[in-house]
Amino acid sequence: MPEPFAKSDFGPHFVWGISTASFQTEGAHDKDGKGHSIWDVFSTQKGAIANNHTAKIACDFYHKYQEDIRLLKAMNIPHFRFSLSWSRILPQGTGKINKRGVSFYNKVIDCCLQHGITPWVTLYHWDLPHTLQLKGGWTNREILEWFGQYAEVCATLFGDRVKHWMVMNEPMVFTGAGYFLGVHAPGKKGMRHFLPAVHHAQLCQAIGGRILRNSVAGASIGTTYSCSFIEPKNTSKRHKKAALRVDALLNRMFLEPVLGLGYPIEDLPVLNRLQPYIQPTDMRDSCFDFDFIGIQNYTREIVRHSCLVPYVGARLIPAPQRGVATTLMDWEVFPPSIYEMIKKYNGYKNIPRILITENGSAFPDKVQQGRVEDAARTAYLQDHLAQVLRAKQEGLSVHGYFVWTFTDNFEWAEGYHPRFGLVHVDFDTQKRIIKRSGQWYASFLGQ
Ligand code: GAL
Repeated sequence: MPEPFAKSDFGPHFVWGISTASFQTEGAHDKDGKGHSIWDVFSTQKGAIANNHTAKIACDFYHKYQEDIRLLKAMNIPHFRFSLSWSRILPQGTGKINKRGVSFYNKVIDCCLQHGITPWVTLYHWDLPHTLQLKGGWTNREILEWFGQYAEVCATLFGDRVKHWMVMNEPMVFTGAGYFLGVHAPGKKGMRHFLPAVHHAQLCQAIGGRILRNSVAGASIGTTYSCSFIEPKNTSKRHKKAALRVDALLNRMFLEPVLGLGYPIEDLPVLNRLQPYIQPTDMRDSCFDFDFIGIQNYTREIVRHSCLVPYVGARLIPAPQRGVATTLMDWEVFPPSIYEMIKKYNGYKNIPRILITENGSAFPDKVQQGRVEDAARTAYLQDHLAQVLRAKQEGLSVHGYFVWTFTDNFEWAEGYHPRFGLVHVDFDTQKRIIKRSGQWYASFLGQ
């Protein structure tokens, strides 16, 4: 069935791309002077990752970047979002620069540009240098200094050619999963880790933004947020209040201080506990006028009140219990969520541009006669794009869309099992096959 929209409906300036991340794709975990990141350490601990998978090789993008960038070109993808590995560039986190690591990113950037592909670079997609974690990582206020140095180094080295920057990927996820739940690197649990990590990541968004603005002429600077449309289980007052708390935590906590609105303490009183970490000028220093905000949406969440869950007094009702369609991650397939999120973030003043910097899905793909017929993924993308278009046609700000993700890759604590790619990877041979969804995206972009 032909999709009910054309690329031209999104306008001539709409940014079309695809997103990846260093740790999930590069491999070469100790090659050419790279230092260990917290994910190198965490993912080799027994039981930390499903099936004890590691990302030592991942998609071997480190060695296959030329082939992969040629593939991007063949798929008509004009914008490529990837992240830099901090410990490849600064193996100790600060101090001495690793020239061979820098040379790798120079080659990737140059290769993109040679193929007419615009690089969109994320400074931090969760792979903190392990040496910094030994000093407390995000819980140590010195990270303001460490992160500033790292941002300065990247801006200086790559800013002549890279003009689209994102400071962070989903700070709520790396602080929540890594410093509260302990299910992501560095595997820390509890409020004493979470609260300082949140506040320091919060400040680093603005620090990174200011450094990029000062050091990169003509840069467009953003940062990215995970977000989900949150709805209460029903209209009862306590479920509605629970939904408000979850929304403050998942969708607002990192953005509002940037916009000068402070932490959403009124709706999530537990955030009062951040006070001991907040120094006198911090809330002023948290503000930054980003050129764009990237929003990353996969699903919606239904929330119920729960006295048993500390701090938020709320629980997410898992999609499988609700009997709705899900992806392999057990996330509900609910395309209107992306529309609702575009609308929500349009409600804030002072966000000049909004882009979708991630959206995609994992399904149980099968290679049959050399092909991957992933109709569910194509439908997922088309249905979400239809919602993006709906927002755009209503006059809301939405200027771009990046699919998560290019090749199947290392899906964090889930290992290689959930495949999100438009391109299938055989992790034994590193052979790539463009899935049917990838063929669809390529022909859509080729219009
Ligand atoms: C995002 C994250 C990506 C990717 C994706 C799918 O939260 O930025 O790295 O893993 O989710 O789970």
